[in-house]
Amino acid sequence: MRDAKSILYERLSVAFSEVSLGADPVLRPSAHADFQVNGALALAKSLGRNPRELAESIVAGCDLTDVCEAVEVSGPGFINLRLSESFLVSQALQMASDSGLGVGGGQEGSRGRVVVDYSAPNVAKEMHVGHLRSSVIGDALCRLLEREGYDVIRENHVGDWGTPFGMLIEHLVDVADGGAVEELTVSDLDAFYREARTCFDSDEEFAERSRRRVVKLQSGDRETLDLWRLLVAESMRHFEEVYSRLGVLLTPEDVVGESYYNSMLDSLVEDLDDLGMLVEDDGAKCVFPPGFTNRDGEPLPLIIQKSDGGYGYAATDLAAIRDRVDDKGAKRIVYVVGAPQAQHFAMCFAVARAAGWLPDDVEAVHVEFGNVLGSDRKMFKTRSGETVKLIDLLDEAVERAVSAISERGDSVSSGIESVARMLGIGAVKYADLSTERTRDYMFDWERMLAFEGNTGPYLQYAHARIRSIFRKGGVEGADVTIVPVIRDERERALLVALVGFGAAVSEAVATYSPSKLCAYLFDLATTFTSFYEGCPVLNAPDAESRGSRMLYCEMTARVLADGLGLLGIEAPEQM
Ligand code: ARG
Repeated sequence: MRDAKSILYERLSVAFSEVSLGADPVLRPSAHADFQVNGALALAKSLGRNPRELAESIVAGCDLTDVCEAVEVSGPGFINLRLSESFLVSQALQMASDSGLGVGGGQEGSRGRVVVDYSAPNVAKEMHVGHLRSSVIGDALCRLLEREGYDVIRENHVGDWGTPFGMLIEHLVDVADGGAVEELTVSDLDAFYREARTCFDSDEEFAERSRRRVVKLQSGDRETLDLWRLLVAESMRHFEEVYSRLGVLLTPEDVVGESYYNSMLDSLVEDLDDLGMLVEDDGAKCVFPPGFTNRDGEPLPLIIQKSDGGYGYAATDLAAIRDRVDDKGAKRIVYVVGAPQAQHFAMCFAVARAAGWLPDDVEAVHVEFGNVLGSDRKMFKTRSGETVKLIDLLDEAVERAVSAISERGDSVSSGIESVARMLGIGAVKYADLSTERTRDYMFDWERMLAFEGNTGPYLQYAHARIRSIFRKGGVEGADVTIVPVIRDERERALLVALVGFGAAVSEAVATYSPSKLCAYLFDLATTFTSFYEGCPVLNAPDAESRGSRMLYCEMTARVLADGLGLLGIEAPEQM
């Protein structure tokens, strides 16, 4: 199904390009129209023409009669569009009869393969809020891309390799103290890491053992690899727990950690050398991609192999690009990683392009995000100044949701625990997803759990309230075979909002911004509220209105549940 916005955009683009090649209309909702078209003004300026006249000639040059009932040039040269009732109704009917609500671009997987690199916590370290953002945003993007018809491969680029493993393994051996290492469980990964670090810094014999262990690990010593595997498995159990609590789609099969690329690194260096791209700098093997300089204007190296022979983060990422392009057949690679790594990715992409490993028809995107801040506007920490463990945070979210529900005095027949889980986890995820991702946001329990404002609970509540209308009316759902009528401006406004769902999803995907979908859903829920306040549903004046309004209610509930689902948030039937 083609949504209103893309139909209008297409027709207007033709009219715009007849005036001047490459000129694009910009469509925005406005207070005076369903869509206001901007772009004629700028175009008129660049052509030195009168903007109103230009807008008039664009309007004359494109036929919108089947879509719009009013097309008017307003102000200095805007074009105001009002959709026609027949078009709104036909769009609504198409949506209502489609289980996918008219969203998506054709067949499953038909738009090409995308690798999404997200979550990526580090072994033997607790997941922190940065990994929360990556997991939550990455997961929403995977769901959205899949819905838009992309063939998505999720990859969890877990940090499971490197020099710290020497000390971690030695510490594991020490803790087991001659007992069976296999039976060890680490309840607190961060504490384990800190203990290992302390031994390393204070005990020369331990440090020496650790260094020897790194060499053994790198040379593939059997016993060492077994110990390393134990550590990885132990950490993965923690990560899995967080994922299942969060409702994130990542599974153990999606883990393609840094260690996976080990065997590819020697040849990667040889290939860079053959290409003449490798430069020795202070004993390290580096590539200097053009255009990257430090503050003093000196060229910046991407370090591939350190002087001690060890490979770094960049080597692994280059190998990952080759693997994803050559073996996984990716047409696009999306990295959901914090903004501080922007330069790392820009340099890796530049080197991979120059080496011919990232062909022009494969896109690589760094989907970056800002920090989570505490109420003091500094990095989010516990009272005692430690990094906040995700699992504790999620437990607290559910506890707080239980109190929020009890305070409201809502009775939930399906059990308070399950609703509180959906509400609490949903609130944390929604707070993260609804802020424009490149911005920092403040972690604020009160705000994210509020039933008012652009929050998860508000949208979940709006959905549950609609479901309760049906329960009250004793009906399963609306009749989707009727032809609905529009008798009230508020009904019309709701329909305009509803048929915008497809465009909202496409925009969220095109800009990798789940926040766009959040803004849409919030707008839909508030539009629904004014509809519901003004237009009685079960007590509608006549059967025709009642049937139409039931249909609008049901579509709203479906869009809310589906939209939240695309964000990875559950929508309880009742709360
Ligand atoms: N493990 C890294 C970290 O915690 C993130 C890895 C992101 N992905 C990548 N391909 N480099 O910062």
